[in-house]
Amino acid sequence: MPELSPELVSQLLRERRSIYPAQFTGAPVDDEMIKEMLENANWAPTHRFTEPWRFVVFSGDGLKKLAEFQSNLYKEVSSKAGDFDEVKFQKLATKPLMSSHIIAIGMARDPKESVPEVEEVSSVAMAVQNMYLTATANSVGCYWGSGGVTYYEEAKPFFGLGAQDKLLGFLYVGTINKDKPLTGRRKPVEDKVRWVR
Ligand SMILES: Cc1cc2nc3c(=O)[nH]c(=O)nc-3n(C[C@H](O)[C@H](O)[C@H](O)COP(=O)(O)O)c2cc1C
Repeated sequence: MPELSPELVSQLLRERRSIYPAQFTGAPVDDEMIKEMLENANWAPTHRFTEPWRFVVFSGDGLKKLAEFQSNLYKEVSSKAGDFDEVKFQKLATKPLMSSHIIAIGMARDPKESVPEVEEVSSVAMAVQNMYLTATANSVGCYWGSGGVTYYEEAKPFFGLGAQDKLLGFLYVGTINKDKPLTGRRKPVEDKVRWVR
């Protein structure tokens, strides 16, 4: 392996930004890029090698299928609950078409429950970070969104997930419109750390 530059790693970590579909040009991202992101996701840390990350990749007509599925599910569930919102419905029916690829992020619960659920979710989040960083290193845009039908129990089967599993959201991937500035903001790390010496 070529020697990693610590400065470049820090730069990659700090300059990674969430890039939203409004900032995508509409140009497709190569499937090979998506495969590289998925391969790197597969190298996330995993307690007892449960490897709980599960992904469904939507592209082309697949994006239309996702849009149709999630908007219809939203309509069905919200109509029953009496809080249907037409604007939200339209957003769910059209937003997926702004991305090149959408990667549904799933957590498959270890059948033996050999580690606590929170560790499985943590592991999947690390896999997602691997995808985020791979995208950043290749100047590809992405962001993790957890809106829409993410936490609907009824959504799980569409993504190949069972009742014990979890859908954690979607990684929206697209070509970055370079005209938009990418500013990040964080409160100082010192506010979140306590040293005991
Ligand atoms: C688990 C998770 C869920 C997220 N869900 C959403 C979301 O539903 N909508 C959204 O606009 N951003 C979402 N984000 C992205 C955050 O808004 C974003 O990471 C934050 O604004 C910091 O920006 P940065 O990623 O560019 O540093 C999510 C991020 C994480 C880690």
